[in-house]
Amino acid sequence: MTTASPFPQDFLWGVASAGHQVEGNNVNSDTWFLEHLPGSMFSEPSGDAVDHYHRYREDIALIASLGFTSYRFSVEWARIEPEEGLFSTAELDHYRRMLKACHEHGLVPVVTFHHFTSPRWLLALGGWEGSRTAGLFARYCDRVMEHLGDLIGVACTLNEPNLPWLLESFGIGGVAPENRGSVPVWAAAADRLGVDASTIAPFQFSSTEAGFDVKVAAHRAATAAIKARRPDLPVGWTLANSDIQSIEGGQELADQVRRDVNERFLEASRGDDFVGIQTYGRTVYGPNGHVPAPEGAETNQMGEEIYPQALEATIREAHRIAGIPVIVTENGLATEDDTQRVAYLKAAVDGVASCIADGIEVHGYIAWTAFDNYEWVFGYGPKFGLIAVDRETQERTPKESARWLGGRSRELSAQSVREPAAQPA
Ligand code: BGC
Repeated sequence: MTTASPFPQDFLWGVASAGHQVEGNNVNSDTWFLEHLPGSMFSEPSGDAVDHYHRYREDIALIASLGFTSYRFSVEWARIEPEEGLFSTAELDHYRRMLKACHEHGLVPVVTFHHFTSPRWLLALGGWEGSRTAGLFARYCDRVMEHLGDLIGVACTLNEPNLPWLLESFGIGGVAPENRGSVPVWAAAADRLGVDASTIAPFQFSSTEAGFDVKVAAHRAATAAIKARRPDLPVGWTLANSDIQSIEGGQELADQVRRDVNERFLEASRGDDFVGIQTYGRTVYGPNGHVPAPEGAETNQMGEEIYPQALEATIREAHRIAGIPVIVTENGLATEDDTQRVAYLKAAVDGVASCIADGIEVHGYIAWTAFDNYEWVFGYGPKFGLIAVDRETQERTPKESARWLGGRSRELSAQSVREPAAQPA
């Protein structure tokens, strides 16, 4: 006898990636531009990344062979619209081939339309505080849907629009427009683009109220554009929701951060088909702000406490506030020790199971990330991948965690309690 599993048979078991972190040579993007500025906050440039742009066929086949049923990846706005209003059919065809490869291998493609990176030209138009940005983003989404819409399984508009507010609570980023000119990298960016430094607002680094409004407007306009082409396609955005906690004296601050980072974005998700939840751990606040990992705690490569229980808490919070189905679109651990990753994934998946058992609609668990890749400002140091990559040879080697999660997905779906019930004789 097998134990019944609470996971529905069509549950999405996947791994995720983001174009800029894996493709390589995303040269028309704002992030590539920032990586190469004097005083850049990026510790190294993304370069060839893991050359997923050329190796996607083998990569998709490998993901499927490990047992997964879904692959989440992003399409790059900077490739598809390298100059304002100039759309590249060749690049759209590239993503069409990727989508076809997913279908050939039985993977449901979860497509992110914007994963942090934007075209460089958008930065000169005010980036994610610009008055034209929502409309321009919706126009790009419409073109993507026209070309690719029939092959997309789930659509994510914006990835982690709330991240800048979480980072700001750690004292990272969050420079007010009037002070940007005194930050060398923003001054250099403004100089090269020929604009005023106060207008430099890349997606990951702007935490102004104007930025909040632009992102909500862009999400709404994009959702409408996607639905106009395919009303049946599930559409949502994906949020960076940490499990926000406090120790004595930190409750007021924790409440404020929870409100700014999690709650108002979850409220803005109401009415969507789903919300993507992306959780890595907990964030604890005390009287003097963010509290580091407790003494002796097991930590990840960034020195943060390993706390897989956070995912269950953020799913429950999303369910309570947004009241719509959840897809875990990212969850993972930066570690060189894959045994730690297996334990982390197991605890996190148990948390998802307990939410489903309580009647919360969770439609998928997609781990971050398919391949060791470009971890933004941290460069290639942190290893979040379930598949290792030798960047000299670009050789891929699945880790035990990939086999564990891929195998588990088959097992759990096979034991689903959501199978059609057997009729009594
Ligand atoms: C992002 C990913 C990133 C991951 C790990 C999320 O914030 O969506 O692009 O690599 O977390 O830090």
